[in-house]
Amino acid sequence: VENMVDLADLSKEDLLALVDLALAYQDGQAVPTLKRAVSVANLFFENSTRTVTSFQMAEQRLGLQRFDVNVNGSSVKKGESLADTVKTVQAIGMDLAVIRHTQTGWYKDLVQDDRIQLSMVNAGDGAGVHPSQTLLDLMTIKKAFGHFQGIRVAIVGDLSHSRVAKSDAKIFKELGMELTFAGPKAWWSEDLAAYGSFKMVDELLPEVDVFMCLRVQLERMQAAGVATYTASDYHEAYGLTKERAKHLKDSAIIMHPAPVNRGVEIDSDLVESEHSRIFAQMQNGVYARMAILSRILEKRGLVEKKS
Ligand code: CP
Repeated sequence: VENMVDLADLSKEDLLALVDLALAYQDGQAVPTLKRAVSVANLFFENSTRTVTSFQMAEQRLGLQRFDVNVNGSSVKKGESLADTVKTVQAIGMDLAVIRHTQTGWYKDLVQDDRIQLSMVNAGDGAGVHPSQTLLDLMTIKKAFGHFQGIRVAIVGDLSHSRVAKSDAKIFKELGMELTFAGPKAWWSEDLAAYGSFKMVDELLPEVDVFMCLRVQLERMQAAGVATYTASDYHEAYGLTKERAKHLKDSAIIMHPAPVNRGVEIDSDLVESEHSRIFAQMQNGVYARMAILSRILEKRGLVEKKS
């Protein structure tokens, strides 16, 4: 079964090919021709705006038959498990399922289950990984700098709760980027120490090519009972203020996976500044998801071979 649950499962060669395929779609490459009708179920058990709509857009552009399952009105509310939900949509005829779930690693047992033959795509698992976000982040960096080797990236903010930080850090390092992290030390995750060092935010500003802010995830902190900052305290201490932005290189780009807490992790005006790629990231996300889905279709022999 061809799944896409973690980009770390791909070889470096396959990963770079996937970035290039996404960029080629953005440059107008034609989508492959389907050999038969192909159906995809979108199962979002956690809120989403960007990921869900850009997967829907990607599915539409690839000519897939799209089923947006209303999970809040589904039998999950009667206690049906995720595994049985996936088997159900498979029985009904789905070839693929795009799944976002609060449970970290929701896919680990499911990909081992021989009874599941549809392709699963991870659209974000709890505090695990977010492969399609990482792919769109790679596109954004390649578009800005043309390559990955030696690009210096700072990831700043709520590191311990961020699946984007974990997902990006591993892959970015594998591709030769140099990482540093900043934010409240209490939110540092030792899991990230393998990928880069922790610094004070003011120290790293002049050094970096990419300044990536993370959203302060109030909902996960409140659930975990972790003390939080007021918006203005956080902004002053760790946020990308206009003053801090003056210390970035002219060529540096600002990224943020969004949703953005304007005035908390980043000054509102900087979201639309010339350094910012925040809305470009969202646009890149459609092509990243087209690449992920079409790679699966190709591996499964569901598309005509190029002549
Ligand atoms: N970046 C991201 O995953 O956004 P959504 O939660 O809106 O999908």
